[in-house]
Amino acid sequence: MNAPGSQPGRTEPYRVAVLLSGSGSNLQALLDAQAEGMLGAEIVLVAGDRADAYGLQRALRHGIATAFVPLRHPRDPAVRAEWERRLADVTAAFTPDLIVLAGFMRVLSSLFLDRFPNRVINQHPALLPDDGGDTFVTSRGIVIPALRGAHVVADALRLGLPVTGCTIHRVTPAVDDGPVLARAEVPVLPADDETALHERIKAVEHRLIIEVVARLARLNG
Ligand code: GAR
Repeated sequence: MNAPGSQPGRTEPYRVAVLLSGSGSNLQALLDAQAEGMLGAEIVLVAGDRADAYGLQRALRHGIATAFVPLRHPRDPAVRAEWERRLADVTAAFTPDLIVLAGFMRVLSSLFLDRFPNRVINQHPALLPDDGGDTFVTSRGIVIPALRGAHVVADALRLGLPVTGCTIHRVTPAVDDGPVLARAEVPVLPADDETALHERIKAVEHRLIIEVVARLARLNG
């Protein structure tokens, strides 16, 4: 039987592609949830832009199709455009219903995003607001800056924020923006360094990404 709101008659699994650049602990959380029957989805592709991304090894170990699509000259717009096209072609070949950027450290433009309208989501290790603004109000009413970019865990420490967290949002051409699907707060502790804080954020991200993928699979699968 189909879940309420799902496509009537659809029997094939909800297909998920994961794009990553690093260790892939979030991919591992998704793989474990899938193995335990908690995801309601099937990971059909893991693609990465770095040969040393441990996440690619995790995918291979699980027998999942794995693609390495390197970006050799990131500052050359023509090379970058061609790379996005190749990455989109590889991804499209696996007909994903959802593409999860799980620690994918490249910005994707509309060259990629227009191929998968409303199907790309991103994990961001900081709190982002609903309105695309520059500040976020925590559950305790504390106003903190909305941190964007590649170094937001270090930024939270540098700015002495009492709390940070993580956000999962739909990806639009605006960087670290787009409709928020889930977020959670994580307190910054006095003894935190970047590694310790990021590990605690990741532990929360693991739970959140499973929840979001399972929810989207239920609604659209
Ligand atoms: C996660 O914390 C994710 O939010 C972050 O990279 C980490 C990947 O961890 N993503 C970004 O910073 C994207 N700009 P993992 O490789 O262990 O899953």
